[in-house]
Amino acid sequence: MNIGTRSKVKELIKSGQVLADGKIIKKPEIHVDEIGTKIICQGKEYQYQPYIYYMMNKPPGVITATTDGKERTVLDVLKEQLIEKKGSLAGIPIKDIFPAGRLDKDTVGLLILTNDGSLAHNILSPAKHVPKTYLVKTQSAISPQMADRLKKGVLIGEKERTLPAVITMRKEDECTLTITEGRYHQVKRMFQAVGTNVIYLKRLSMGNLWLDKELEEGQVRELTQKEVMELCLKK
Ligand code: URA
Repeated sequence: MNIGTRSKVKELIKSGQVLADGKIIKKPEIHVDEIGTKIICQGKEYQYQPYIYYMMNKPPGVITATTDGKERTVLDVLKEQLIEKKGSLAGIPIKDIFPAGRLDKDTVGLLILTNDGSLAHNILSPAKHVPKTYLVKTQSAISPQMADRLKKGVLIGEKERTLPAVITMRKEDECTLTITEGRYHQVKRMFQAVGTNVIYLKRLSMGNLWLDKELEEGQVRELTQKEVMELCLKK
């Protein structure tokens, strides 16, 4: 629970600073029911939390993977951020954390990192049609006809057209696009299909969760309980 390393926690226990259901425990090897036992450490109550959820504003130039022999990954970014913020990785089972969803190397914006496989499944499953909103800048102007085609669905080299999308123009070469699928390079391929190229792509939202405007590229924060609950709700 991010209190410290194993040896630090052992010290805390041996020095009588940890209470289980109101009683001081002095043996680190004691077993407790992690859900039912009330644990107080140095006067603070801890609620066991098996899952952890982070929001990252993914920076450009890193790949959405856990490890890679050559390239910097989003997990490398997460580790660096946690060490910077907390001074260590103590207590965080980083090996279990993975990105829930994928952004291209040059795409920036909202990425969720978690160790909760079922939440990841919920938001990524194609059948769930979770909406994702992107800020898109293009090489050339997006005409009303192009916008209309994107809205209705386009062929991107597969059998099925893309599902209807919501497009909101911001400038002649900039819009937000909300899609409910997650096909490979989908946004870039949709714009190619109507005759232009994406030159900047940023994910702004997934389901009810919007990228925190305070979060700069490369920064990470934990999701609040409310945000986690909202992510789990049906969209
Ligand atoms: N669509 C793309 O083309 N790239 C991304 O990174 C995300 C959606």
